[in-house]
Parts: sequence; structure tokens; C-alpha cells
Amino acid sequence: VLRMSDLDLTGKRVLIRQDLNVPVTHGKITSDARLRASLPTLKLALEKGASVLVISHLGRPKAGKVDPDASLTPVAAWLSSALGRTVPLITNWIDGVALEPGQIALGENTRFLEGEKKDDEALSRKMASLCDVYVMDAFGTAHRAEASTHGVARFAPVACAGPLLAAELDALGQALAQPKRPLAVIVGGSKVSTKLDLLNNLADVADQLIIGGGIANTFLAAAGYKVGKSLCEMDMLDTAKEIRAKIQARGGDIPLPEDVVCATEFSAEAHAVVRKIDEVEADEMILDIGPKSAAKLAAQLKSAGTVVWNGPVGVFEFDAFAGGTKALADAIAASDAFSLAGGGDTLAAIDKFSVADKIGYISTGGGAFLEFLEGKTLPAVAMLESRAKG
Ligand code: 3PG
Repeated sequence: VLRMSDLDLTGKRVLIRQDLNVPVTHGKITSDARLRASLPTLKLALEKGASVLVISHLGRPKAGKVDPDASLTPVAAWLSSALGRTVPLITNWIDGVALEPGQIALGENTRFLEGEKKDDEALSRKMASLCDVYVMDAFGTAHRAEASTHGVARFAPVACAGPLLAAELDALGQALAQPKRPLAVIVGGSKVSTKLDLLNNLADVADQLIIGGGIANTFLAAAGYKVGKSLCEMDMLDTAKEIRAKIQARGGDIPLPEDVVCATEFSAEAHAVVRKIDEVEADEMILDIGPKSAAKLAAQLKSAGTVVWNGPVGVFEFDAFAGGTKALADAIAASDAFSLAGGGDTLAAIDKFSVADKIGYISTGGGAFLEFLEGKTLPAVAMLESRAKG
């Protein structure tokens, strides 16, 4: 695809779609990771002499009206302070914003507009008419075909990928399309059913598929182990067997934990006991992988060529059940492998164990990151590809 870095933006009206959809509680931004990741693109476009209108959605408001709870007001304040200049928030940006080269404004929540979610053609054309160059930089929203991520790219005079989107696609490509092997992928999470496409796709490409959480319990049950009261999907046992057989047929594996950390209640104060995998009691829940399993997996991660990490392997929010996830995080940090991490829980674990600067690339995508791991084409990227083909 065409990249923003290939273009001369001097004097151009540039419309930049970013994913500034950050968590806001009582008007305060509780994680600015996406904003920090988006900032270099804006600085670069301004340095290149563009007039910049940046747009994003926030939350899932109803279309057709302004919803103060989903306003980008806190984001405008954050950008103003980060850029050291006022970034005005424009409510009616769709009617056009007069900006000089080197000036920047933020358009209010794209999802306030009727037609945004539906990828409406008239709205897409209107957005396209506001710019000379459309820059798609919202990796986190690239799995949504909406007017501001998809339709506009069809009609804009020039449509390209912004630096953040390009960096995300490069990192994901390096990790999954041409990985240095062995490729180890960690997939945590509660349900096989919600990560079915992902597990199926990864079973075709990964050498080691390391599982945790409820997903691991389902694979354990499929292998005939008793998992007590653990979160487990009894209707997914055959599916789990098929996925494991598939990766094993390629010479890879889904290693099952040989020990686990259990408790009879789900709480931070619960009394944690380490059990061999065939000794889990009927009234117990598996809440983490055990120390032996963690050490074994950590050794595998250290000798991997590439590591992709999505999801914790235990209830790491509770210290008694954080050991497995911490051991894997430390192993990734100590490994020479190219590592790629993404997903909300994973980012929280990375923060908790302070390994952010030892991870090769941390994705800003949630759902988009998962869809990429599922092997799906992201519609916003597909549109840029079709524009590049002409
Ligand atoms: C996300 O946070 O995953 C993206 O910003 C997309 O948001 P959405 O799921 O509301 O489309």
C-alpha cells in the first residue's frame, strides 16, 4: 500500500483517521497508550507542512446526535498539551474546516455522524471532499468497514497508510507471515469458542501454541484430565482435540501444563495450592499454570525465534495466581526472539510486570489484532490495497 512517508504533504489538506478511542472515566483518560502511539504521525504531518484534520471514534454512541459522554474533549486536551499548542475540537467538521498549512484540528467523534457505522457512500464522499490526502492510521479500527476507515479511502484523491498503521502491519507481518522460527504463540483467555478462529489459524502457522486460562482447561479436559470446578467448555472438547491434532500433524504442539495453581474460590484472598495436573480436586478451580510448567514454557520462549503474545495464562490480577504470567513475561523479556504483544489484558500484564521496553512491538489493536491473528483481511487495509492497485 501507499505510505504517508512516500508523499509530499506540503500545503496539502490532510485528513488523518486515527484510533483515539481511549478509556475515559469521569472525563479522565485512564490509558493514553493509543494517544502516545498516534502522536508521531501528527507531528510528522505538521512538520511536512500539511494542514491536518484528525478524526476518530470514541466508544459506541448512538448516531445522529452529540453525546457528551462520548465526546473527544479529553482527547483534544491531551493532544493540546502533548503538541504544546491548542488543538481545537470541531463539532461540525464534516461541513469543512478552514486550516492553514501547519495547523491542526480534531474532528468530534465520527460515530456521532449518521452513516458512519454503515459505511454510507454519501458520507464517505463528503469526508473525501475535505482532503487532498486521506491517511488511514487507525490500526485499532482497521477491522471495521465504516465511512471514516473504509468508504472515505475509496473516494479520497489519494489514500495512504499512516506511519502507525504501517508499523503495525510490518510487525504483524514479520511475526506471522515470515517468522523466524520456532514461532511460539501464547493464547490466554477464558473461552475456546471466542478464540476458535484464532486457535485454528495459529495451529496452521505456529510451532508452539502455549495456552492458558479457561482455554487451557478445555484442552486439559479434552485430554482426559479432571478440571474440577474450573472454567471449561465441555461442548468444545472435540474441537480442542482437532486443533491439537492439527498442529501436532505439522510437528508442532500445544503443550499442556503438568502442574497448576488451584483454589476453591475465585478471589484475591483465596488459598492457593499447587497441584500435579492429575490431582485437581472436584471442588477446585485452576487459576494459573504451576511453577514447573511455567519454567518449562519459559525455557521454550527463550529459545524461540519469534513470540506472539495474546492473553495471560492465569488470573494475574490476583498475586497468588500471577506467577505463570509473570514467568512468561520475564522469559519474553529475556529472549532474543522478536516479540509482538497485543490485547487489553496482555497490555495490563506487560504494565504490571514492567516489561514494556523489552517487547519488540506492542500493538495498539484489540479486536483488530485478534482478527489479524485469525488470518482475516482487515477491510480498511484491503481498501488501501485496492487503491494502490489503481
Ligand atoms: C477498539 O477499541 O477495539 C477499537 O477502537 C474499535 O472499537 P469498536 O469495537 O467500538 O469498533
